[in-house]
Amino acid sequence: MFLSDNLKIFSGSSNPALVSSVCKYLEIPVGGAKINRFPDGEKVIRVEDDVRGRDCFVLQSTCEPVDDHLVELLIFLDCLRRASAKRITAVIPYFGYARQDRKDEGRVPITAKLVANLITTAGADRVLAIDLHAKQLQGFFDIPVDHLTGELVLNKYFRNKKINNLTLVSPDVGNMKIAARYADRLGGDLAIVYKKRVSGSEVEAHEMIGDVKGRNILMCDDIIATAGTVCSAANLLKERGAEKIYVGVTHGIFALQALERLAEAPIEEVVVTDTIPTSEQTKKVDSIKILSVAAMLGEAIKRIHRNESVSSLFNNI
Ligand code: R5P
Repeated sequence: MFLSDNLKIFSGSSNPALVSSVCKYLEIPVGGAKINRFPDGEKVIRVEDDVRGRDCFVLQSTCEPVDDHLVELLIFLDCLRRASAKRITAVIPYFGYARQDRKDEGRVPITAKLVANLITTAGADRVLAIDLHAKQLQGFFDIPVDHLTGELVLNKYFRNKKINNLTLVSPDVGNMKIAARYADRLGGDLAIVYKKRVSGSEVEAHEMIGDVKGRNILMCDDIIATAGTVCSAANLLKERGAEKIYVGVTHGIFALQALERLAEAPIEEVVVTDTIPTSEQTKKVDSIKILSVAAMLGEAIKRIHRNESVSSLFNNI
């Protein structure tokens, strides 16, 4: 694949393995940059390649440590802007703070909007993101956003699995549209679990719409954080007579007791993507499978660079 020297891809420190795979797909080297800390803890970044007049992409997932990765991304964008890059795209495979996207009670911030403002102010001309929790988040940015979805790789994986008697389940009301899209593509019935969030890590699956007796299940969500949502839904599905339960999720955060919960839950396989790097602990869990979004991201970057359509990537999923 021929790509001009005009294209530069830089890596923040959140997900270097994904950046390497993206660059491998594009057959270009990762852009040279040094990320260090001053003795007082402040970060300092120096871009080592000449970026004047170049089309630059900086890839950073704002996963844990969230604030550290976020500030690093902002500094990186500022650095490229001041080095006279022609166009800067913030590639954010996982966008932390996405779930704080509305005032659902008094005296709380809308941090997703604040973060979008910060990214724009720091110097991004465009954003390339994957499954932003809610599609409306694209509108939080006043710059173009190319919004990809992990459904591209997850859908292919589950289609090849040829699961029979399939019912697609949304583990909460908010994800209904995702489950419906999978049902359209893979064929199968649709069911929805009604969940109640008790706290940041506790979730209760109360009721469901749909009959899952004797059915194999694919449960789809955008994020697994503490795994409370998918595990409580899986227990309810089992109570209602479901057979094998599979889970397909884009962002695997696996916070707090998530891995223990998943190990105990009646779930055959949990499939996530590598938008967030996989910890050694997670790699040891046999039922967790990681699929890569590198080719999808690489293809999107190539198309943005060449001013070609990105949405057509999703025509045949
Ligand atoms: C909620 O709206 C999201 O789509 C996920 O269902 C949720 O963030 C998962 O969190 P946890 O794994 O902690 O239940």
